[in-house]
Amino acid sequence: MKKRILTGITTTGIPHIGNYVGAIRPALSMVEDADESFFFLADYHSIIKNNDPTNILNSVKSIALAWLSCGLDPNKSYFYKQSDVPEIMELSWILNCVTAKGLMNRAHAYKSATSLNDNDPDKGITMGLFSYPVLMAADILMFDSTHVPVGLDQVQHLEMTRDIAARFNHLYKSVLTLPEPMIKEKENVVPGLDGRKMSKSYGNVIPLLENEKNLKKSIMKIVTNSLEPGVPKETENCTIYNLYKNFADKSDISAFETSYKEGISWGEAKEKLFQVINAELMPIRSKYLELEKDTDYINDLLSDGAKKARSLAKTKILEIKEVTGITKIT
Ligand code: TRP
Repeated sequence: MKKRILTGITTTGIPHIGNYVGAIRPALSMVEDADESFFFLADYHSIIKNNDPTNILNSVKSIALAWLSCGLDPNKSYFYKQSDVPEIMELSWILNCVTAKGLMNRAHAYKSATSLNDNDPDKGITMGLFSYPVLMAADILMFDSTHVPVGLDQVQHLEMTRDIAARFNHLYKSVLTLPEPMIKEKENVVPGLDGRKMSKSYGNVIPLLENEKNLKKSIMKIVTNSLEPGVPKETENCTIYNLYKNFADKSDISAFETSYKEGISWGEAKEKLFQVINAELMPIRSKYLELEKDTDYINDLLSDGAKKARSLAKTKILEIKEVTGITKIT
């Protein structure tokens, strides 16, 4: 069987270091190792929690630019917007019809949203939020993905995808491929400015595509304890250190550890962190500045990507519809 990797990023907010380290960089490093790779902008997922069209559109643009600036090669990978492949929506409905409501009741994202409500558990809950995992399953199953690189927070969605696919295969015919999650190691959770997981919903992100000055400004905002310069410091649970680890090589990391024992000041540690991050982002930033002006190029590229993805999706959806009885009268 072909190895097909697939992953998407929800298009709310601007791309940040967490997206880069957690999703974009590892996904792109797997391209050579796979037979086919699919990277997409989950814009239909983004309207679940965001009703601001300008925000969505800006986010689609900047996340598309982030993938491309980080080295995505549209000749090697499928690259498209979810909304440009309407077959995914058709599949999503079909999957809705085989998905147990009880399975969705157990989804973490839905449960944590209802747990914030006191009296009315349904307050602020849309059907979109409730069936979010079904749309994600459609994204994955549409292209017979075999491997899905995800963070720990998405593992449950992958299990649900497998459950839904197995149920479909059992009810109709075995036409859906059950994907494997490729889980990134726990220690690779990228901390944000306040030490919690870097996430647009926490507002603690370090932006990916900002200029040098703003990158530095952002890094200087990392929250630390109040230990003075000269006092030895712990690397464990230190946000600066945990970020540094994701950008430096082994020898730099051990030198950084030594400087902690020797009482490096937080200011200096942040400066060192800025240096390693900036060194890695420099070529990405210059590619971004070059591409950013050319919206026609990005639009053409995405419409081209959608065309290629749709040629696979059209064949697959016909097969799926046929086994469900949504087909020509004979
Ligand atoms: N739910 C994912 C996230 O928020 C984004 C996503 C949508 C996705 N569809 C996907 C990831 C399919 C992997 C595969 O991070």
